Amino acid sequence: MINNMDISNAMTIKLDSKLPEYPEFAEGIRRAPKREFNLSPMEAETALKNALRYVPEELHETLAPEFMEELVTRGRIYGYRFRPHGKIKGKSIDEYNGKCTEGKAIQVMIDNNLDFDIALYPYELVTYGETGQVCQNWMQYRLIKKYLEEITQDQTLAIMSGHPLGLFKSSPSSPRVIITNGLMVGMYDNPDDWHKAAAMGVANYGQMTAGGFMYIGPQGIVHGTFNTVLNAGRLKYGIGDNEDLAGYLFVTSGLGGMSGAQGKAVKIANGVGIIAEVDESRTQTRHEQGWVDIVANSPKEAFALAKKYQDKKEGVAIAFNGNVIDLLEYAADNNVKIHLLSDQTSCHVPYDGGYCPQGLTFEERTELLGTNKIQFRKLVDESLIKHFNIIKDLVDKGTYFFDYGNAFMKAVYDAGETEICANGKDESEGFIFPSYVEDIMGPMLFDYGYGPFRWVCLSGKPEDLRKTDKAAMDCIDPNRRAQDRDNWVWIRDAEKNALVVGTQARILYQDAMGRLKIALRFNEMVRNGEISPVMLGRDHHDTGGTDSPFRETSNIYDGSRVMSEMATQCFAGNAARGMTMIALHNGGGVGIGKSINGGFGMVLDGSLRVDEILKRAMAWDTMVGVSRRSWARNENSIETCVEYNEMKKGTDHITLPYIPKEDLVKNLVVEAFKSME
Ligand SMILES: NC(=O)c1ccc[n+]([C@@H]2O[C@H](COP(=O)([O-])OP(=O)(O)OC[C@H]3O[C@@H](n4cnc5c(N)ncnc54)[C@H](O)[C@@H]3O)[C@@H](O)[C@H]2O)c1
Repeated sequence: MINNMDISNAMTIKLDSKLPEYPEFAEGIRRAPKREFNLSPMEAETALKNALRYVPEELHETLAPEFMEELVTRGRIYGYRFRPHGKIKGKSIDEYNGKCTEGKAIQVMIDNNLDFDIALYPYELVTYGETGQVCQNWMQYRLIKKYLEEITQDQTLAIMSGHPLGLFKSSPSSPRVIITNGLMVGMYDNPDDWHKAAAMGVANYGQMTAGGFMYIGPQGIVHGTFNTVLNAGRLKYGIGDNEDLAGYLFVTSGLGGMSGAQGKAVKIANGVGIIAEVDESRTQTRHEQGWVDIVANSPKEAFALAKKYQDKKEGVAIAFNGNVIDLLEYAADNNVKIHLLSDQTSCHVPYDGGYCPQGLTFEERTELLGTNKIQFRKLVDESLIKHFNIIKDLVDKGTYFFDYGNAFMKAVYDAGETEICANGKDESEGFIFPSYVEDIMGPMLFDYGYGPFRWVCLSGKPEDLRKTDKAAMDCIDPNRRAQDRDNWVWIRDAEKNALVVGTQARILYQDAMGRLKIALRFNEMVRNGEISPVMLGRDHHDTGGTDSPFRETSNIYDGSRVMSEMATQCFAGNAARGMTMIALHNGGGVGIGKSINGGFGMVLDGSLRVDEILKRAMAWDTMVGVSRRSWARNENSIETCVEYNEMKKGTDHITLPYIPKEDLVKNLVVEAFKSME
């Protein structure tokens, strides 16, 4: 029978047999709360064996008790001992070992996701969104890095929920890395079975860009949030195309990984923002980074400050140290006029610590999570229902509330409040408040193909970023559409707005042809030696990357929003066309079973080979979403696809929907139903 010596000898890429020193945990770095642990003794045995399969046998005696202790106290085996010591950060690509540019580039991206300044819980490999991990444990991290050091342009690395399955022969025009995270078989695709699988070490919650290695710090969401709040103002308060949010108040919550962008975004739109945050350390981080300007310690102080800036018509981001419910309760009781209201607590995982109940400090919330999950759940449910009732009250007084993609409305419904349902009984027909995609982002951006395109200058040099900003600006015609003008202004001011945290990266909403044009221009700049290689990518939260009925695809009304074929086609199509790195995940942003989402990374090395991949892949990645939206009869998408068919005659062709007369359909249905009575 095969033994561990044979196994070790059969591998050239593996973890060392030298025991790493146990790491010290730096003070002041946030730690993940204990995760749900619902394993039977037999399953716990499997979990332990699963973690030990990464390490040579000679280390098992030492590591087995350590891993068991982690499982019991933290709910997961992170393998802390394998974490490299000290601070991890995305360094310049030249500082990494590797046999090809792509192998080194992907290491930059992974390390950036684990930077102390970026990651939410860096020791637990969580980048953002309370539970969004790069991979499941530090053994996987080490092994992935070893593979990336060895990979050549003729190989592809398969990563399944953080586990590097191995290197397999492919070609220079195939993906270097294919990532999947948390994809579950339908009957097990629910939070309980997922928790079990995660505790056993076989499922990773990759969120979107955490496990897709494409997170670029809170900047990644600033542009989308800016677009959302500004357009919410245009939609509800008649703010003109050339005007901003001066004098308007936006109230929300969360200064975490993504939510931390809200202050910056509203300030760039020249509005006044108050953002509630229960975790003082996160408020402090955002304050130090300059992402919020002032910290208020009471609702009264926060609203008084806001009034001052609203009167001056000056933009400002105010953090409120405390629970969002306390803040909103004060506003409702004192008739404070809030124009725009949202929420960005991690409601996709409210019972795992994503939502802090009213009356608990952040520390008490962490403690209760570890000691009494049932009581924690009860308090979360009570708070969510109270939160909803205050919002309803404020909306009755004229506030515009929108769900900002954190599954808040679904969480209220799950807490037992059916009043939030459009039909008053269940979620099947949506909720009473609009999701930002239904009202704003869908019709105004996604339906045309505008989405969160981004790039990382792999040299880490600010001058490379400056050059790419300028080149991207030159690629945009600000007079084509209002969206192009907004994007042009955005990139013009991007450096001034000091958005970079971590690697030298940029977010810029673009449509299909805009992305292609910029991509080709950047690759040419690399070819000419003007800049070092660049990693292109996008958030999964995009036109074509995500099927999510309560979020990205919430403005699809042909019944197909329950399907997840678009994200899957997008992923497969990007693989076929040769994107460097492609990812497909379960749940990102809204929770397990509620979405399928994917993203890509594309290394621009200046070669003509890359030009060809860009020409094949960039437009597809976006137009798959626009065509699906067009087929769902979304007007702006139909218009975009008509233009595309004309422009791409002879190469691409999109099927367009015929639109029947409303009356014809309605009358026939009424008659048919009458005859069945
Ligand atoms: N709309 C989008 O484009 C978009 C994009 C990414 C993420 N999201 C969603 O937004 C949510 C937040 O993401 P994140 O990455 O910022 O998560 P996060 O967990 O890093 O941050 C959420 C923050 O909310 C705070 N919080 C929790 N309960 C609170 C309460 N009652 N009062 C005040 N503060 C409270 C937490 O302390 C935390 O700092 C997630 O559900 C995520 O999926 C939306």
